Amino acid sequence: MEIIIRQEMPEDYQKTEDIVKKAFSNVEISDKTEHFLVNRIRTSNAFIPELSLVAVNQDKEIVGHVLLSKIEIVDGDQSVESLALAPVSVTPEYQQQGIGSQLIRAALDKAKEHGYQSVIVLGHPDYYPRFGFKQAMLWRIRAPFDVPNEVFMALEIVEGSLKKVQGVVKYSDAFEE
Ligand SMILES: CC(C)(COP(=O)(O)OP(=O)(O)OC[C@H]1O[C@@H](n2cnc3c(N)ncnc32)[C@H](O)[C@@H]1OP(=O)(O)O)[C@@H](O)C(=O)NCCC(=O)NCCS
Repeated sequence: MEIIIRQEMPEDYQKTEDIVKKAFSNVEISDKTEHFLVNRIRTSNAFIPELSLVAVNQDKEIVGHVLLSKIEIVDGDQSVESLALAPVSVTPEYQQQGIGSQLIRAALDKAKEHGYQSVIVLGHPDYYPRFGFKQAMLWRIRAPFDVPNEVFMALEIVEGSLKKVQGVVKYSDAFEE
């Protein structure tokens, strides 16, 4: 199946949100509000339009979406910019065909191209290590809430970029509601 990954455009917003909603509809550990999160991130300072990507099928229909947005890693009065990978969504009929992986790899490549250094994800410990994510605790990077170490992960998109970084991740206000 031929899938194209491209930047999300404003005219895609509604369709993307429908896909995000559908993708999470069967997920047990979900409050089913991820489409609202996407909507809030887009109108926040954390939004980077170039890092909101959609997967499009041969009929030009959106079947998946990934979003990287700005966060900070804060240690006392020091703060380092990073990115949150959240959420990633593939519509149920298209799951398990490599589209989620294509979206994530494309987003990481784009982030590197735009000069970003690292990415943080809260997600399944069996899924994200295949893209190079490791437990954030390895760098003494912590979540701002209680989560098991293995689900809170970080990735250096520029090698060594987290070497001197430690602290607590501060998500943008869009994540708060
Ligand atoms: C998670 C998701 C984006 C993956 O997309 P996908 O296109 O189905 O994934 P791919 O085809 O690239 O990869 C499939 C692999 O991921 C694994 N996988 C898929 N969803 C997973 C999950 N929630 N947890 C752990 N592993 C998962 C599959 O077991 C499969 O593993 P394998 O390659 O070892 O067989 C998609 O299943 C989805 O939208 N799920 C609902 C929303 C969600 O949970 N998003 C992630 C949290 S932000």
